[in-house]
Amino acid sequence: MEIVILESPAEVGRVAAALVGKVVTDRPDAVLGLATGSSPLGIYRSLAARVAEGELDFSRASGFALDEYVGIPLTHPESYAAVIARDVIEPLGLDPARVRVPDGRADDLEAAAVEYDGAIRTAGGVDIQILGIGANGHIGFNEPTSSFASRTRIKTLAPSTREANARFFDDPAQVPTHCLTQGLGTILEAKRVVLVAQGAAKAHAIAAAVEGPLSAMCPGSALQLHEHATIVVDEEAAAELA
Ligand code: F6R
Repeated sequence: MEIVILESPAEVGRVAAALVGKVVTDRPDAVLGLATGSSPLGIYRSLAARVAEGELDFSRASGFALDEYVGIPLTHPESYAAVIARDVIEPLGLDPARVRVPDGRADDLEAAAVEYDGAIRTAGGVDIQILGIGANGHIGFNEPTSSFASRTRIKTLAPSTREANARFFDDPAQVPTHCLTQGLGTILEAKRVVLVAQGAAKAHAIAAAVEGPLSAMCPGSALQLHEHATIVVDEEAAAELA
C-alpha cells in the first residue's frame, strides 16, 4: 500500500487523476471502477480538463459503478446512475453503452447483484478502481462488519451513512435505506485501487484503514491486502496517521 500525502484537496484530485490517466493511456479500452460521492469529484474534474485538452481519450474505456441506492428512480438526480452520467460519462466522453451501474430497481435484486459481479469478470476485471471512504471506514457501501470475501450484494446503509448523504436530498427521510454495492472481495480483485480522502472528517477512517488491524469493523482496512493500492490524502485526512 502506498500513501501519498498532499497539501490540498485539489492536489489530491490531480495526483489521483494522473494514476487513472496513465492506465487509460497504456490501455485505451481499460475498465474503470467508478465511485460517486464528493471525494472523487476532483479526479473527474482533472480528467475532464485533460480530455478537453486532447491529452486523454476515454471513448474506448468502459466502467462499472461501485454502488447504487435500492428503489431510487433512475431519473432522480441523486441516483448514482444519474450522478455517473452527469459527473463522469459526459465530462470524460465515455460511451454510455459501456458504463454500468448496479440496477437498484431490479425486481430480483439478488440476481441483479450476482449478474453485475459476473459482468465485471466477463469484462476482464477492473483495471483501476477509484474509491472514497466513509467516516465509518466503509468503501463502496460495505459498512462495518462486511466480510472481506463479500461480493456484489444488497446492503443496509448505516444510520451515519444515511445522515452523511442527507446533504444530497431535500429531506433526510428520502435517503434510501438500502443499496446494491460491489463487495470487498469484488473490489479487491481490481488490478489497481486508488482511494482518495480529503478533510478532517476522514482522518480517523484513513488511520484505521491504513494502520489499524485488518478488521471487518473498518472495511477500508481490506485494502492492506491489495498489492497495488494507492491512498491519496490531503494533510487533514492524514492527521491521525502515525
Ligand atoms: C460512493 C461510495 C462511498 C463513498 C463514501 C464517501 O460510490 O461508494 O463509499 O465513497 O461514502 O463519500 P464522500 O466522498 O461523499 O465523502
